[in-house]
Parts: sequence; C-alpha cells; structure tokens
Amino acid sequence: MKLSPGAVKILPDVISQEEHDSIVDELLFNHTEDFSLKRFRRRKYERDHWDAAIVGFKEIERPLSQWSSGNRIVLERVRGIISQNSDPIQSWLEPHVIDLAKDGEILPHVDSIKFSGGLVCGLSLISSRVMCLQPPQESPENYAKGPDDMIQVQVDPRSLYILSKESRFDMAHSIAKCPENSRRMSIIFRDALSS
Ligand code: OGA
Ligand code: MN
Repeated sequence: MKLSPGAVKILPDVISQEEHDSIVDELLFNHTEDFSLKRFRRRKYERDHWDAAIVGFKEIERPLSQWSSGNRIVLERVRGIISQNSDPIQSWLEPHVIDLAKDGEILPHVDSIKFSGGLVCGLSLISSRVMCLQPPQESPENYAKGPDDMIQVQVDPRSLYILSKESRFDMAHSIAKCPENSRRMSIIFRDALSS
C-alpha cells in the first residue's frame, strides 16, 4: 500500500503542554455557563449502537466562537498550521470534539464525503493512540485485523494529524483499542465541501 507524499502528515508538539492543559480544562473541568458543554460533560458514552463506527465515545460540535479567548487563539493557530500544510482551503467547518472512553475505539470508516471537503485533521489530547489507515471495505468484518495490510501511525497528545488526498478519500481510518489505553480526546478540523 503506497500513499503519495504528504497524504498523511503528523506534526508533533503543535501546542504546548500549557495550551493542551488549558483546552482539556475548558472541556472537562472549568466552571462554565455553557449549557451544551455542561450537557456534554454529563452525557454517557455511546456504546449500544451495533453498527456505529465509534464505540465508547461522545462527540460535540464546538464552534470556535464558543471557546474561551485564550483557547480560541490556540485553535485558530492550529487552523493556520493546517492551512500551511495543505492545498488552499476555501472555508472551514466548525471543530468537533471527540471524547473516547478508556476502552473506546473508532472502527475503520471514511468521513462523509457529502458534508466535508478534502481534509480531516485531528489535534490529539490526553493520551496516545495508534491510528490505522487501510483500504475501505464493504462490510466491517472484511477489515484486516493484523498490521500487515494497514499503515499505522502514533497520534500523541499535542500532535496534529492531517489526512488529505488518498488518506482522506481512498483509505479508511480508525483509532485502535489497546490494553493500557486511557481516555483520549481529540479536536477534529474539517474543511467545507467547495461548490
Ligand atoms: C471522526 C474520527 C478520529 C479522532 O470523528 O470521524 O475519525 O482522532 N476521529 O478522534
Ligand atoms: Mn473520521
């Protein structure tokens, strides 16, 4: 399996530890009057949907305007880093926050090509996981289970991954479960479909 240069980019340390902690703090601990965030914190992880691509997770769209000003500036800087590392971006969708439970995993999938554009990028928070990329399959049980037929990359806290071209459209991505996993969060940035 070959990917063209730059189809998967992993940029380490795009935010500092203080910036990381401040983002996690806003999401999980800060006193807030933001009711959608309060509901998000209280919400149980979703596990029951048998065909869900994500198991043991919760997700919220959190527009940049809703973040505290310090964290908003950091997330805008991350968008800027994505722009510098990709083809020109017409417009952005609002970021999504994914909260994966200790035993949560994201099964292989291709992000909807109906709603988002040519980029899928993730800022990883709290703990390291392995991201796998492999050719999409018609049915979930057809996915390779072993490492031979997949590309694996480690996504560490404070790193940013950028999937574009084949890694966005012609490969499925997943976040593996592993025995010593701990909770992981990510902030997902996507561009809008250009018309
Ligand atoms: C997704 C996804 C990966 C991640 O939300 O579609 O693939 O890093 N997330 O959380
Ligand atoms: Mn995805």
